[in-house]
Order: sequence, then structure tokens, then C-alpha cells
Amino acid sequence: MREPLISVRDLRVQFHTYAGVVNALNGVSFDLYPGEVFGLVGETGCGKSVTGLALLQLIPPPGEIVGGQILYCGQDLRTLPPAQMRSLRGGKIAMVFQDPAAALNPVFTVGEQMEMVIRQHRRVSRRDARRQAAEMLRAVGMPDPLRILNAYPHELSGGMQQRVMIAIALSSGAEVLVADEPTTALDVTIQAQILDLLVSLKKERGIAILLITHNLGVVAETCDRVGVLYAGSVMEMGPTTAIFREMKHPYTQGLLAAIPHAERRGRFLSAIPGSVPSGLQIPPGCPFHPRCAFAWDECRNEIPSLLPVDEGHWVACHLYGRGRR
Ligand SMILES: Nc1ncnc2c1ncn2[C@@H]1O[C@H](COP(=O)(O)OP(=O)(O)O)[C@@H](O)[C@H]1O
Ligand SMILES: [Mg+2]
Repeated sequence: MREPLISVRDLRVQFHTYAGVVNALNGVSFDLYPGEVFGLVGETGCGKSVTGLALLQLIPPPGEIVGGQILYCGQDLRTLPPAQMRSLRGGKIAMVFQDPAAALNPVFTVGEQMEMVIRQHRRVSRRDARRQAAEMLRAVGMPDPLRILNAYPHELSGGMQQRVMIAIALSSGAEVLVADEPTTALDVTIQAQILDLLVSLKKERGIAILLITHNLGVVAETCDRVGVLYAGSVMEMGPTTAIFREMKHPYTQGLLAAIPHAERRGRFLSAIPGSVPSGLQIPPGCPFHPRCAFAWDECRNEIPSLLPVDEGHWVACHLYGRGRR
């Protein structure tokens, strides 16, 4: 059995705001294995970005991790000394965001920024750093690396900027890449190219990728396994093929029904009624029960545990509770 690179266990995150305590994550657990893309999917506000930021220990104030563990190679990142965490972040564990322009420094060329990152993590000359930077740009499919090295970020398209961000992650030797909606801001054709690039990185370099997306279509095309998040809890988790073959949770089924299909065009889209509860007031019992067509008393009172329904396929829903499968 392979060992996970990252194990998230019962992760709890709160934001202490003037309006009250926002419970952003309420006991999230999952594993991330080398050479896989694990998708985190769910509607806006369900806790995807907070999960990604927690992995890098970058929860912004007034937020804090209030419980659980994030194990990387068996070590809890929560207890790692800040200096070690800094070298891990942007080193072995890297992150790319929805808006690459905001993550790149506008006053330095791509080459200068890449050299800085490379020399932060390895003792090499400027010349060697530049050579490595060009190599990494080639590895992420840049047609003319030498031209790109001399370009400023604003001279590149969004897709090119995102490739540069991924090249920076590679040049720092990332084993884990957290990608938060990396293609949401891009044109559809460019989106597909970036997703293909991520898939090739996991295959060819064995990188573990946590792909955060609100888009089940992206999950279907890219992810080996997926976790469905709702109101800061994992509702369903398993191999992507198993989940698409047999979605168990009414929330997952609702998410799928909300995807527009060409053959359904012009007809009314079935979306899930209601909206994601604010983290200030998470309903008792199953957090999804106020929007669920199948809810009964138990759902209103008891939080369902995440239980296995099949090989590697887990569901937190009283429909599949003990003795009901
Ligand atoms: N800086 C913050 N202050 C207060 N609440 C926050 C902050 N950042 C996130 N949250 C809350 O945490 C929850 C999860 O947010 P987030 O992870 O950004 O959702 P997603 O990425 O799935 O859209 C939401 O309820 C959101 O309101
Ligand atoms: Mg987000």
C-alpha cells in the first residue's frame, strides 16, 4: 500500500469575526498520494480555499486552525517551527492561484523571479539558475523559453502566466501542488491545456496535486479521486470513476444536475434549491438537510459520519447509515 504524502485529519478552522465565529472547516479528513490529482469540489463558500491555505499554514487572520492535523511525511505541519514551514512552502509544497497576475511580481522579469526562487532553494550560480529556469519553462510547454525569461508578467497572456506559476513550483522542487481554481479565469481552450499540463506533471514527475474547483466537469476530466465539500464537511469521497458511476450523496447528485448539458440547452436547469449556509450558522445534524429532498428527523438531529459504501468510496449521509446499505 502506498503511503500518503499528505494526510489531513479532522481539520477544523474558525474565523473570529465581529459577527461571530465562522466555522469554515468542521472536521475535514483526506489523504493525498504521490502521483495523483485529488479534487476538492463544492459550491462557493464551502471551504475549499481555506483547506488549501491550511495545507500551507497560510490561513489569514482572523482565521485559525483550531483542531486536527496536517501530516506531511508523518510530521504535523501545525507543530513545525516557522522557519522550516517557510522553506517547505514554495519549496516541497507549492500553490498556484486563480489569478496568476496577482501572484507574479510586476517589476521583475519572469527570468529574474524564477532565478530568485531557484536560488532560494538551491545553491547554484545565477547562470545555472537561468538555465534551470529555461528548462522548467520548456517542461511546462512554453514554446520559446528564452523570450519568456526576458518578458515581464504583463506581457504574457493569462494562460502563459499560469504556466510560469507552475514552472516556478517545479523549479523549487515541489512534491505537492495545491492548485486553487487555476483555470477559472482562463478561456475554455486554455483551461484544457493547463489541466492537461497538470495531469502530465503527476504522471511524469509523480507530483501530488490538490485541485480545488467548483466545476464537476474539471473533476471528471482531471482528478483520480475527489472529495465533495459542503459547509466545511466532506460529504462524499472516492475514485472519480466510482463517484460519476454511482453518486450516493444527494448533494453530489444535485451538483451534477446543475451542470449545463448541450442536450438540455433551453430547458430549465435543475439547481439545488437554497444556498450554502454561512459558517456563522451551520444547521444542526447534517448541514445539507435544509436543502435535501430526502431529509428526515435523524438528518435534522444527528451529524452523519463519513462511512465506506464501497472500495475507497465514502459517504456522510443517513440514507447509507449503518444497516441501511
Ligand atoms: N478572511 C475571512 N474572514 C471570515 N470568514 C472567512 C474568511 N475567509 C473565508 N471565510 C469563510 O470560510 C468559509 C469557507 O471559505 P472558502 O474556503 O473561501 O470557500 P470556497 O473556496 O469553497 O469558496 C466561508 O464561510 C467564508 O465566509
Ligand atoms: Mg475559493
